[in-house]
Amino acid sequence: MRVHRVVCPGSFDPVTNGHLDIIRRAARLHDEVIVVVGANRAKHGMFSVDERVAMLEEVTADLANVSVGTFRGLLVEYCRDRGVSAIVKGLRAVSDFEYEMEMAQMNYRLAEIETLFIAANPLYSFLRSSLVREIAAYGGNVSSLVPPPVETRLRAKLAELAQG
Ligand code: PNS
Repeated sequence: MRVHRVVCPGSFDPVTNGHLDIIRRAARLHDEVIVVVGANRAKHGMFSVDERVAMLEEVTADLANVSVGTFRGLLVEYCRDRGVSAIVKGLRAVSDFEYEMEMAQMNYRLAEIETLFIAANPLYSFLRSSLVREIAAYGGNVSSLVPPPVETRLRAKLAELAQG
């Protein structure tokens, strides 16, 4: 029987509760989910690719059909090489739509890879990693926005950066 394998791609700098909600819901719908961290522009972020992967592995450890990987270059090439049939993305609000639609259409044009959208839980419609980083950097409480291991690593990273 053909395995229905999908990817959940993103920067995950760091993974938020919103990402995790989409990953969990994707894992209920598909045989295998590979969460893939895009490494093309990762050096400009807060966490290294390895750190992002480690956090994702920790917070998805209870999901048997979810694995974590990385990719460089075009996402569709990664999908082709690994027999991935679709890209799964969360849509938070209309503001996401134009950008996501453009990528979905281009990815289909490039390699006939389908993109499936999951409507984000309204609890997380305002949530993005850059806001989490900013709130944490100014001492705000992010405990309801990210899983506990991510909050711990955010604190450690900010302490590390403060020490220069
Ligand atoms: O978390 P993000 O920043 O929304 O993730 C965007 C990501 C990494 C999924 C996207 O930028 C991507 O797929 N980049 C890989 C390069 C690529 O395939 N570009 C063509 C898209 S049509």
